[in-house]
Amino acid sequence: MPNVLLRPAHLGDLDLLRHWDEQQHVLASDPNDDWAWETELSRNPPWREQLIGEVDGRPVGFIQIIDPAEEERHYWGDASQNLRAIDIWIGEASDLNRGYGTAMMRLAIARCFAAPEVTAILIDPLASNTAAHRFYERLGFRYVERRQFGEDDCIVYRLERGEVPGV
Ligand SMILES: CC(C)(COP(=O)(O)OP(=O)(O)OC[C@H]1O[C@@H](n2cnc3c(N)ncnc32)[C@H](O)[C@@H]1OP(=O)(O)O)[C@@H](O)C(=O)NCCC(=O)NCCS
Repeated sequence: MPNVLLRPAHLGDLDLLRHWDEQQHVLASDPNDDWAWETELSRNPPWREQLIGEVDGRPVGFIQIIDPAEEERHYWGDASQNLRAIDIWIGEASDLNRGYGTAMMRLAIARCFAAPEVTAILIDPLASNTAAHRFYERLGFRYVERRQFGEDDCIVYRLERGEVPGV
């Protein structure tokens, strides 16, 4: 397992996050979102964590964890309490398929369930993103439904507390 850690993202990551946004595999997975990095990296709302995954001190990817019931835009609609939702990407194509994403997700899952009230974690890959479906299923996520979020045709997956493989 690679030596991965998660640390808070900050304004110093602005150029890197913008650069990652332009990579084809990142664009393909999230074509309709503007992450407004300059604004968002400057604030720290209680319902969100924005994290950078590092391998031996080198940034390789991004993870966002939100409380979908508290998130301001109500992206998830009327979400139940005590859930978390995660977004993840690896920045450079050359860092894909090296186990970094799995290691980052395991850390993020542990971080979510460290809060005793959290019952489950949600993920919403595009329906077309079959590599991501395989990735999440291997991590223990189960298919919930196909759902339209704005212009995005997505699959909702859910991981229940107590159903994390290997724990
Ligand atoms: C989804 C994503 C985060 C996965 O990250 P990743 O670091 O590539 O994931 P992993 O390396 O842990 O696993 C991916 C594959 O590499 C394989 N792999 C893992 N470690 C490996 C290694 N050391 N050597 C070779 N292959 C390896 C895994 O078995 C897996 O194989 P599979 O595609 O046949 O299922 C990444 O593909 C990504 O950023 N995609 C674009 C953004 C995206 O789709 N995000 C999700 C939207 S909801």
